[in-house]
Amino acid sequence: MARQAKAPHRNSPTLRYDRMMQQAIFTPAVPEPGTEILGRWALMRTLRRNPLEIWRRIHFEAPFVAGEGPLGYGVVLSDPAAIQHVLVTNASNYVKDRLQRKVLAPGLGEGLLTAEGDAWKRTRRMLAPLFTPRAVEALAVSMLPPIEANMDRLARRPASHRHDISREMTRVTYDVLAATLFSGSIAGGAEAFSEALTRYFETQGRIDPFDMLDLPAFLPRIGRILAQPALDFFEARIEEIIAARRALLAKEAPPPRDLLTALIKARDPENGQGLTEREVGANIVTFIGAGHETTANLMSWTLYLLSQAPEIAEAVAKEARETADYPAAAALEPAKSLPMTRAVLEEAMRLFPPVPSLTRAALKRDVAAGVSIPRGALVVIAPYVLHRHTLLWDEPEGFRPQRFLPGEREAIPRFAYLPFGAGPRVCIGQQFAMVEAMLILSRLSLRFRFHHLGPPPEPVHRITLRPKGGLPMRFSLR
Ligand code: HEM
Repeated sequence: MARQAKAPHRNSPTLRYDRMMQQAIFTPAVPEPGTEILGRWALMRTLRRNPLEIWRRIHFEAPFVAGEGPLGYGVVLSDPAAIQHVLVTNASNYVKDRLQRKVLAPGLGEGLLTAEGDAWKRTRRMLAPLFTPRAVEALAVSMLPPIEANMDRLARRPASHRHDISREMTRVTYDVLAATLFSGSIAGGAEAFSEALTRYFETQGRIDPFDMLDLPAFLPRIGRILAQPALDFFEARIEEIIAARRALLAKEAPPPRDLLTALIKARDPENGQGLTEREVGANIVTFIGAGHETTANLMSWTLYLLSQAPEIAEAVAKEARETADYPAAAALEPAKSLPMTRAVLEEAMRLFPPVPSLTRAALKRDVAAGVSIPRGALVVIAPYVLHRHTLLWDEPEGFRPQRFLPGEREAIPRFAYLPFGAGPRVCIGQQFAMVEAMLILSRLSLRFRFHHLGPPPEPVHRITLRPKGGLPMRFSLR
C-alpha cells in the first residue's frame, strides 16, 4: 500500500565558495523531495497544501516518470526532445487539461489563456499584433512613470521600514499593467484591485479536491465560493473601464495608445471581425491575471536572491548606473546593455519559475521521443522540476546567473528552460514581462540595497510560485 505524505520538510539555505569559478554560490531553501510514492489521499492533500511538495527525488533525476496514478495515467516529462514534441512538433494533439481549466476558467472565461480550438486560434491571431517587439517598445515608455512613482514611494519610507516585498512588487506590476492596459484610467483602484487579485489567487488558486475527483459542477467548491467576491469585483470594474473607453472612442479626440484601445480595435485578419464585449473583458482580466502575479513573483524571488548574493547585486547596480539615462532603450537591448540584469532575472525564473508546471491532456495516443503517451494521459511539464533537473544543469540548486550570460547561455538546450512555455501557446506577454522586469530591477538597484529579514522564504505553488506569507525586506539607500 502507498505510504502517507511526510510532513513538509525543507532543506536549509547554504552559501559556499566555488574555488574553480572563484565565486560564492547561494543555494535557497526549497521543499526536500521525498523518495516514497504518494498514495491517492496523500497526493490530494499535498496538491491542496502545496503542489511543490508532490515532486519526488526521481522526478529530478529521470528523463520521464510515467504510470497509473491516483489522478489517472500521467507522464512527467523532463527530456527536452520529448517536451519539444509535445509543445511544438505535435502540439495539436495536446489540449489544456480539465483540472487546469477548472482552476483558471472561472476567472478568465473566454480569454486567451483558457480558450481552446478555433476560439483560441482566432483570439491569438487578433492579439498577436499587440505584443510584437515594436508594440512592446512603445509600451516600455509607458512603464517608466509608474515604476519611478513606486521607487519614490519606497524611498520616502524610513530606512528601518520592514517592506513586504511581495506586496510592494504586486503594487508595482499592477501599476505598470494599469498604465499600459488602460492608461491608469481606474483612479484610486490600485489597492482594491491588488487585494482582490491576491484573494483570487489564494482561494481560486488552490486545487480543490472536488475537482481532482471530477465531482459534478453543481457541488460547491469552497475556493470558488471564497473567490466569488473578487470575481464580481473584477467584472464590475472591467465593465466600467470598457464602457468609459468606448464612450471616449466614439468622440473625435485621439484615444489613449494602450492595450485596451488596441483590444477594442483588434480585427481578425481573416474576416475583419472584432472581439465581442465579453471577449474584450475576458482578455483584460486574462492580461491582469496572467501578467501581474507572475511578474510580481519573479521580482520578489529576484530581490530575495540578490539580498543573499551581494556581489551579484553590485554587478546589477553597476549596469543600472551605466544606463541610468536611457533605461527603456537599455531594457529593449539587454544583451548589449544589461546582460547581468537579464541573467539574474533568468536565473531567478530557473530556480523559482513563476508558472511552476504546465499540463496537457493527450487527445490521441502518441510517442514523444520514445516516451509512450496513451490517449487521455495527463502530460506534465514542470519548469520547477525541469529547471532543477540533475541531467540538465550543473549545480542545479545554486544561484549562478553567470550561466545565462552570453557565452555560457548558448549551451542551454531550448527545451530545458521554459519559464514562458513554448510552441503555439507560448506566453504572449514574454517580451513585455522581460522589459518590465528589467526596468523594475535596474531602477530599484540604482537606488537601493536589499536586505532580507526573517526566516528563509517558503515557496508555495498557487497557480504561480509565491513566497508563503510574503517576503519581509529592508531597503537601504545607495
Ligand atoms: C514573468 C512573467 C510571466 C511568466 C513567467 C509567464 C508565463 C507564462 C507561461 C508559462 C505561459 C504558457 C502556459 C501554458 O503553456 O500552459 C503563459 C501564457 C500566457 N501569458 Fe504569460 N507569463 C508572464 C507574463 C505575462 C504577461 C505580462 C502577460 C500579458 C500582459 C501574459 C499573458 C499571457 C497569456 C495571455 C498567455 C496565454 C497564451 C495562449 O495560450 O495563447 N503573461 N505565460
